[in-house]
Amino acid sequence: MRTQVGIIGAGPAGLLLSHLLHLRGISSVVLERRSREYVERRVRAGVLEQGTVDTLVEAGVGERMLREGLPHHGIELRYGGAGHRIAFEKLVPGRSITVYGQQEVVKDLIAARLAAGGDLRFEVEDVVVHDVDTEQPYLTFGDERLDCDIIAGCDGFHGVSRPSIPEGVLTIYERDYPFAWLGILARVAPSSEELIYARNERGFALHSMRTPAISRFYLQVPPDARLDDWPDERIWSELKARLETVPGFELATGEILERGITPMRSFVAEPMQYGRLYLAGDAAHIVPPTGAKGLNLAVADVRVLTEALAAYFKDGTTELLEAYSQTCLKRVWRAQHFSYWMTTLLHTFDEDDAYARRLQLSYLDYVTSSEAAATTLAENYVGLPF
Ligand code: FAD
Ligand code: PHB
Repeated sequence: MRTQVGIIGAGPAGLLLSHLLHLRGISSVVLERRSREYVERRVRAGVLEQGTVDTLVEAGVGERMLREGLPHHGIELRYGGAGHRIAFEKLVPGRSITVYGQQEVVKDLIAARLAAGGDLRFEVEDVVVHDVDTEQPYLTFGDERLDCDIIAGCDGFHGVSRPSIPEGVLTIYERDYPFAWLGILARVAPSSEELIYARNERGFALHSMRTPAISRFYLQVPPDARLDDWPDERIWSELKARLETVPGFELATGEILERGITPMRSFVAEPMQYGRLYLAGDAAHIVPPTGAKGLNLAVADVRVLTEALAAYFKDGTTELLEAYSQTCLKRVWRAQHFSYWMTTLLHTFDEDDAYARRLQLSYLDYVTSSEAAATTLAENYVGLPF
């Protein structure tokens, strides 16, 4: 078998890349370890930046998102007994976010690829990357072999692409946080029209949503927390304790449909390329979810890679491919800082003393009272222009 671009991973990065390449007349094969049902059900991100929405619409895969997604023009920061709205329409006019589940984006992309006759292989085992430092790289899986001009590693943080790069090539920058997020999806109408990011002495809580009938919540929990320690009643009472801190707000509860614990990590591997292997999305970088940037960064990488591959396959030029890593890393590092900043602003850290907590509150007061500081949050949250 032969294709122009061999893509490992059918997450948002791999699927969008395959779709955008198809629109440019470039062939690809996507190899995914999990089943189609599994990737279509995996509950993860929910906030799409303006640029992500525009990218999906321009690529012809935004129809259902425009119909079912929830446009939001602000978020609330809740702390010290009050809620403070960060008003996108005032601070970053014309830019907003759309709440639409990542697995819905994945479903839309899979449907579009299959409708166009795209080659997506699910449940493939033992993908191995070969000879990316030569002009004839290839992938093997099971007892098959796929020869490629270029390989795209879109296989997330735990994939095989990044570890296949020889030792000494990559520089790794990382930070672990002393907490995790327990996330739930619940059959209950959201208790708020907009997302609520709540800083609380008991720990951070986030009220998000998926549809007018389904809500999504996150709780800061210890890094070693286990789901067994969090029966439904404990989850709801902790969410209430952290969110019902302003007069008149009552949290509606409902059946919990899905739950999971996610470690919090910042991670960047540089460069995002080795020979003919290009890393995109979580395969190259991870951010803590507080800034809602992971999926959006994956989309941004894929846009850059598509342009570079289009130039390469059209007239053999390699300038854009050579600049790929550097071009992406500028945005990656901005998002790294923003996600780290949002995380440290809103979570409680066990090692923090009273002085550190006062600094945190002072910064929150500044962000919610200064238009300049609020604009910094807003323009990063809705996403800087490409
Ligand atoms: P992935 O989605 O991880 O896809 C990689 C794919 O590769 C997977 O399907 C995997 O099965 C496959 N794969 C792995 N190894 C192999 C292999 N060896 N062979 C073949 N296939 C393989 N981001 C946001 O922008 N906004 C948010 O609101 C947000 N919230 C989040 C909340 C949570 C709880 C979590 C966990 C993440 C959140 N993120 C958010 C981050 C976002 O989900 C990720 O950044 C995004 O999934 C990255 O997409 P990707 O395609 O790079 O990687
Ligand atoms: C989500 O809805 O899943 C979500 C929203 C905002 C975040 C992270 C996750 O910062």
